[in-house]
Amino acid sequence: MVTVVMVAEKPSICNAIAIALSGGNHETKGGTPPVHTFRSNFMGSSALFKVTSVVGHVFSTDFPSAYQSWDKVDPVTLFDAPVEKKAEKKGVVHLLQNEGKGADYLVLWLDCDREGENICFEVISCIMPEALSRKELRTPGPKQRIFRAKFSAINPNDIKNAMMTLGAPNENESLSVEARQELDLKVGVAFSRYQTRYFQGKYSDLDSRIVSYGPCQTPTLGFCVERHILIQNFVPEPYWVLCPTIKIEGYGAVKFEWERGRIFDKRVASVFRSIMLEDSRLKILRVNQKEVKKGRPTPLNTVAMLKACSKALGIGPASAMHTAENLYLQGYISYPRTESTAYPKSMNIEETLRQFSRHAIWGGFVDDLLPRNWVTPKSGVDVGDHPPITPCRLAQPGDLSSDQGRVYDLIAKHFIATVSPDAVYLQTKIEAQIGTENFTTSGRQLKRPGWLGLYQMRSEYEDEENYEIRNLPSFKGGETFQMTSETLPMVEKKTSPPGYLTESELIALMEKNGIGTDASMATHIENICQRNYVNVESGRRLVPTQLGTVLVQGYYRIDADLVLPIVRSNIEKQCDLIAKGMADKDDVVAHSLSNFQKKFSYFVKNIEMMDTLFEASFSPLTAGGKPWSKCGLSNRYLQLIQSKPQRLYNKNTEQVYNLPQGGSFKLWGGRVCPVEGCGFELSLFVVGAGKDQRSYPLCPNCYNNPRPEWGPAPSSKGLMTECPHADFHPVVAKLTLCDDEETNGVFILDPGSAPNNWRLVSTRSNFMLTFPSDVVHKLTVLSETDPACENHHLLQVLPPPDPDQLT
Ligand SMILES: *[C@@H]1O[C@H](CO)[C@@H](O)[C@H](O)[C@H]1NC(C)=O
Ligand SMILES: *[C@@H]1O[C@H](CO)[C@@H](O)[C@H](O)[C@H]1NC(C)=O
Repeated sequence: MVTVVMVAEKPSICNAIAIALSGGNHETKGGTPPVHTFRSNFMGSSALFKVTSVVGHVFSTDFPSAYQSWDKVDPVTLFDAPVEKKAEKKGVVHLLQNEGKGADYLVLWLDCDREGENICFEVISCIMPEALSRKELRTPGPKQRIFRAKFSAINPNDIKNAMMTLGAPNENESLSVEARQELDLKVGVAFSRYQTRYFQGKYSDLDSRIVSYGPCQTPTLGFCVERHILIQNFVPEPYWVLCPTIKIEGYGAVKFEWERGRIFDKRVASVFRSIMLEDSRLKILRVNQKEVKKGRPTPLNTVAMLKACSKALGIGPASAMHTAENLYLQGYISYPRTESTAYPKSMNIEETLRQFSRHAIWGGFVDDLLPRNWVTPKSGVDVGDHPPITPCRLAQPGDLSSDQGRVYDLIAKHFIATVSPDAVYLQTKIEAQIGTENFTTSGRQLKRPGWLGLYQMRSEYEDEENYEIRNLPSFKGGETFQMTSETLPMVEKKTSPPGYLTESELIALMEKNGIGTDASMATHIENICQRNYVNVESGRRLVPTQLGTVLVQGYYRIDADLVLPIVRSNIEKQCDLIAKGMADKDDVVAHSLSNFQKKFSYFVKNIEMMDTLFEASFSPLTAGGKPWSKCGLSNRYLQLIQSKPQRLYNKNTEQVYNLPQGGSFKLWGGRVCPVEGCGFELSLFVVGAGKDQRSYPLCPNCYNNPRPEWGPAPSSKGLMTECPHADFHPVVAKLTLCDDEETNGVFILDPGSAPNNWRLVSTRSNFMLTFPSDVVHKLTVLSETDPACENHHLLQVLPPPDPDQLT
């Protein structure tokens, strides 16, 4: 009996695989992620199958800890720094190592895209690390022990099919992901650390925790700012048009359009009008009618789905992607990351269509298409990754929660539309003349709604022109109409700027310029929103903030390559070559890094060109802030800068003291840090809300310059909800009662709980113990310890004074 270990990307996929391959006869061992086992055959022998999963990437690419400090590491050295794989989820690594012990074969069921290929190799490094150097174990041949399953939808047919056509993992695709990870990490972190430090050390009101740079994020922002500048610089220009209007009994007014369009000189327009009024008859020249089609849409890929979700449903790309992934995991739709817009030849369109004949709303429409009235879908592009996004099973209205339901409906209707007949209109175009000047007007009537019938005539798509129905009265060639100064008005109009970019337009620009991939575009857009570089306003239009605008303008001044899409799209092309085996990963990475390192050094040298823009837009630290606590070195008061990120600033020495983010600050009655040589005035760091609110002591100097003898300090990345100091910091130690075994922290007397709400709080969690004020009047931690247990300090409790004794 051989053992076959199979690994999927998510627990729900692994569940579906176990059911499909065992026919439901599997056993499940709980845990996260769970492991399913069953017996069957593999490579001609009876086999024990174990199916489990990871949860996305197992490792992340990061710098070793020596490079983590913002203070001690010069960002320029990051370009040459080593990178390492860090276990994101230690539990998953252990699970893979344990379950993988003694495996004879490994079958990889990761998602079928480059990220999935990369996770394959992460899994191999946990289960059969020897195969990383022994290629024959993972290439087709007699020694192959590692296999790759390729599938596009989580249904029993696709899964069984994949199992019968196992291939091999693709190392070059995995390497292309690694190349991009390393480049993005090094370039992003070097620029972000440098410019964050520089600008936050000078300005008080940037309102962003990190002034980040990203090789994709920044060009994405660039598109939004470019449009902003176009709008800002736009000067409206007046123009004039002549629009003859004739009134027809029983119909209303018919407006004609002038062939010359806009006239930008008022006198010229007036002269035309006078000449026309002399002749004064509008003569119908010709009436043309023809059928025009509004074609059915092409099959849906990721980019088109994200655009439609934003435009038609008002759901942003990150949220749309997340929702689509959930639908995929539940088996409702096929894999939502794909560039292809052509259905595979093997797809059974009729069967996919048939399940919708039971749909409560579109059932009738679909019935009309079956069995043979549906049409061949438009031929799109087959990129060879996954088929276009299609529904895999029926969901009735109300089966799915609101956003899932709306995204599902969009995908399902799109599929039905792609195999429905085109919409057919009868278009009427009328040509007319006044003197020698030409005019037209047109009408449109619907002959056959086709696919638009599914949408109540309102399509949800980007390329939608105005296909409104417009009836016209019937005209005959040679007919004439008398014009007067009233029916031949000269109308003044103004040119107007384009609107701000919509999300859907931005996605189109990113696609066209090769910024990001279908898997990552949504994240880049989300990032520029979260960094406070753009705001999403009504109509899902992206309006840059002052910070976003100034940054992009600054890059343009120093080195436009940092924001123009061309550099990034070159990198994407290089990564593509790695994936296709036409370029070497190390060469690509080394070349791009040396290029960016030069750009970085040039940027640092010329940062003042950007800084002059910041100076004009933001307030210097010296102007902002309120006097706060005393500095132990200069004995002057530090200023508390309250806009994001909160900081303390010494006006005299221009020193900035970072503060933990995620809470608020209180002065602590003038107490001074007991650490020798420090002497900074202490504050309280207050976190949590309501019943969970608790406070911890905070010395701004020690927070920025922790010493190893105080023990491991909490990470200062992100929002902090625990004690900002290590547990052996003298001021924490003074308040400590005993260990908190649950979290490896300690219990301290909450220094903000005095005078009538005494509490003990854990330094590492929100756990606390409250003493009622009618029992405890004052609580003090003594330096003496419990004789029975030397880790426990004694508490001195003073009861409230007896009210009777006061009188
Ligand atoms: C109007 O259209 C006719 C053709 O239909 C053309 O010969 C003529 O030059 C046009 N007049 C002007 C002013 O463009
Ligand atoms: C992978 O890329 C290398 C070049 O870096 C190439 O020699 C090799 O043939 C490629 N492997 C496959 C399977 O395409």
